[in-house]
Amino acid sequence: MRLDKFLCDCNLGTRSQVKKDIKAGCVTVNGVIVRTPEQHIHEKEDKIAYQGQYCTYEKYIYYMLHKPAGVVSATEDRHERTVLELLGDDRRGDLFPVGRLDKDTEGLLLITNDGVLAHELLSPVKHVEKEYECHLAKPVTEEQKLRLEQGLDIGDQIPTKPAAVRILEDKKITLTITEGRFHQVKRMVHAAGNEVLYLKRLRMGSLRLDPRLPKGSYRRLTEEEQEDLLKEKTRNR
Ligand code: URA
Repeated sequence: MRLDKFLCDCNLGTRSQVKKDIKAGCVTVNGVIVRTPEQHIHEKEDKIAYQGQYCTYEKYIYYMLHKPAGVVSATEDRHERTVLELLGDDRRGDLFPVGRLDKDTEGLLLITNDGVLAHELLSPVKHVEKEYECHLAKPVTEEQKLRLEQGLDIGDQIPTKPAAVRILEDKKITLTITEGRFHQVKRMVHAAGNEVLYLKRLRMGSLRLDPRLPKGSYRRLTEEEQEDLLKEKTRNR
């Protein structure tokens, strides 16, 4: 790996900032000042120090993002603002959002570079729960609740799996699903005879949206959140 990339991945600044610092002599590799940003280093074996402090390279990064409406769940988009742009200087080239929320959906989005975990969380055979808060156009009826709970035909080849429904107010429910079909919640609610006016993801597997995290903000997962989530990597194997 190039020295400047390594330092960016250690969150020591943008590519141009770390290049400047390297050229200014702030960085040593195995005790020797290196002034060439493109120098190759071995991230596990070489000892890299920035202004006298050793840097530790993190292979996997996990961020919880409170996605606001109006940004798309993609790594790149020619026309729209992406969720990765919300990471500012913490944006690393290998990060991606785990699954997609619609542009107008808000709430929990995990951003990581851990492809194995992403696969486990999204794989249809793993049935990882995703819980959503839904604001509805009309008061939810018992019949609608029952239809959502039983699973229903949304126009795909097979009906959806049963969902768990909690009524919060007459026009506000939580819906927990274990699949991840395109616009699934909106289509389920529509097929049940109602419409979603607002959608927010509250939880994915063990990971819950931090209620203190403002919309548009992100933070690293805590160690406990990370450990619980990583159990998904081994569950059902
Ligand atoms: N279901 C939807 O309809 N939209 C989302 O963004 C997520 C789940």
